[in-house]
Amino acid sequence: MGSVVVLGGYGNFGRRIVAALASDANAAGHRVLIAGRSRERAERFAREVGGNAEPFAVDCHAPSFAEALARADAKIVIHTAGPFQTQDYAVPHACIEARAHYVDLADARAFVCGIRALDDAAKRSETLVVSGASSLPALSSAVVDRLARDFSSIHSIEHVITSGAIPPGLATMSGVLSYAGKPFERWHDGRWRRVHGWQDLKWMRFPDPLGLRCVANCDVPDLDLFPHRYPSVESVVFRAGVAQPSSMLAIGLGAWAVRSILLSSLVPFVPRLHRLATARARRGSKHSAMRVHVRGLNGRSQPHTRTWTLIAANDHGPHIPCFPAIALARKLLRDAVPRRGAMPCMGLLDLEEILAVGRGLEIAVVEDEVDERSSGPTR
Ligand SMILES: NC(=O)c1ccc[n+]([C@@H]2O[C@H](COP(=O)([O-])OP(=O)(O)OC[C@H]3O[C@@H](n4cnc5c(N)ncnc54)[C@H](OP(=O)(O)O)[C@@H]3O)[C@@H](O)[C@H]2O)c1
Repeated sequence: MGSVVVLGGYGNFGRRIVAALASDANAAGHRVLIAGRSRERAERFAREVGGNAEPFAVDCHAPSFAEALARADAKIVIHTAGPFQTQDYAVPHACIEARAHYVDLADARAFVCGIRALDDAAKRSETLVVSGASSLPALSSAVVDRLARDFSSIHSIEHVITSGAIPPGLATMSGVLSYAGKPFERWHDGRWRRVHGWQDLKWMRFPDPLGLRCVANCDVPDLDLFPHRYPSVESVVFRAGVAQPSSMLAIGLGAWAVRSILLSSLVPFVPRLHRLATARARRGSKHSAMRVHVRGLNGRSQPHTRTWTLIAANDHGPHIPCFPAIALARKLLRDAVPRRGAMPCMGLLDLEEILAVGRGLEIAVVEDEVDERSSGPTR
């Protein structure tokens, strides 16, 4: 019996992916393996989730990982065991060796954009190797692809994610804070410009009950991928933020300290920040949102803008980064993905396929509702 291995399967996002696949008709005939370094945590979660989920104690960075995958008869590996900012391609290489399809949730710019280096090896082993099957760039590019139908040329893409009060897992927090205060390049007005992570704090208005949210610069794969995917684009900006303004102020100040060389990195503070955010979460917002704003020219060469906003209530936002990986795994299990090779997760799933995973959750999409005077993009 083949298996779907979820690395980080009892982690924040991994457990949602396991839960979705364990009782899924697409995965019938497959075991869903909850993989992580703690057998006890994997066993406990397997009992909780039921279905065809089983524990799988494994270290994905061990030299014997490819053999472990072969023994488990892995057909698909979903890698959520970040942070990816500090990883090389040993895990996808092991999957290629074990002839298992590989899908990750990576948000690290160099990691996602560089995955094409594995293209030949993946084709030789007839596997699909996909990086970034998460909010970025899978969902973000699917939204831009959809909005792009209304344009003859796209000039700018600005997208933003504001989370609710529940913090993500340690891996996500370590990843996103690894570039706090660090410089990176962003395509702006047709040239690369240097900005700094978690700086340039900005208020943006979202539909009620979110209201005003504070967001800041983030270093994400889309900043490299979108100028190539949409060649007419002159500016690509991505910002993110957490619900509480005081947390944003603290992150902004910490990032400033790194930028000023008073601190070398915010990563050592992650365990403490995570405990603090978890303790405060119950009193905070249960709403999160993602917004994609596209400007350009329509078919009549008139200036045109489109805005797509997804709003998640009742703490359902943290399900969204899992949708693309779940959708892609289901599609692979149905043998409905003919492509082989290694690539960032763009063009493999359309917007409907991704959002269909969230049926039954409190998630709504609003289009073109933004008043640009208060919250439109800056140029
Ligand atoms: N692209 C996007 O839009 C996007 C958005 C959000 C999140 N993400 C990604 O999602 C990833 C997961 O985040 P999360 O919040 O779920 O993190 P998390 O809760 O910290 O989960 C990470 C899991 O990985 C496991 N793990 C760590 N090292 C391992 C190893 N060597 N072998 C096997 N398992 C290992 C951990 O368990 P043990 O330590 O017990 O082994 C833990 O269960 C992040 O790294 C982030 O990159 C991407």
